[in-house]
Amino acid sequence: MENKIAVYRKEHFNAAHRLHNTDLSDVENASLFGKCNYPNYHGHNYELIVKVIGEVDPKTGFVIDLKLLSDLIKEHVIEKFDHKNLNLDTIEFKNLNPTAENIAIVIYNILRTKLDKKYDLKIVLYETERNYVEYPA
Ligand code: NI
Repeated sequence: MENKIAVYRKEHFNAAHRLHNTDLSDVENASLFGKCNYPNYHGHNYELIVKVIGEVDPKTGFVIDLKLLSDLIKEHVIEKFDHKNLNLDTIEFKNLNPTAENIAIVIYNILRTKLDKKYDLKIVLYETERNYVEYPA
């Protein structure tokens, strides 16, 4: 019988970005991405919520040791993106528009390779207090 439960770890990073699609004209880009298309970049305070779903380990009473999860996120996600210009400073977004959607997918893919397959994983990423994405949906 399955007895799954979700645990969450919240983290935070600041990063700059510019949303821009080189296949579109400057006018189309400005109209599509608004302030996020400003040529000189701008920052967001990203709130990251990592959800790990699994069964409670009878030995520890944990799904996963949240200290270990926190260390994993810090080492592989926060260190990589915090205080960076996502477009210029990261390989991941060299050719990928750093929308909240794409950032969440990138973070998911990074953490998926680090987490035991027995866990289900979900990423929630807030770009602003009111705008956030969830992956997988
Ligand atoms: Ni923006």
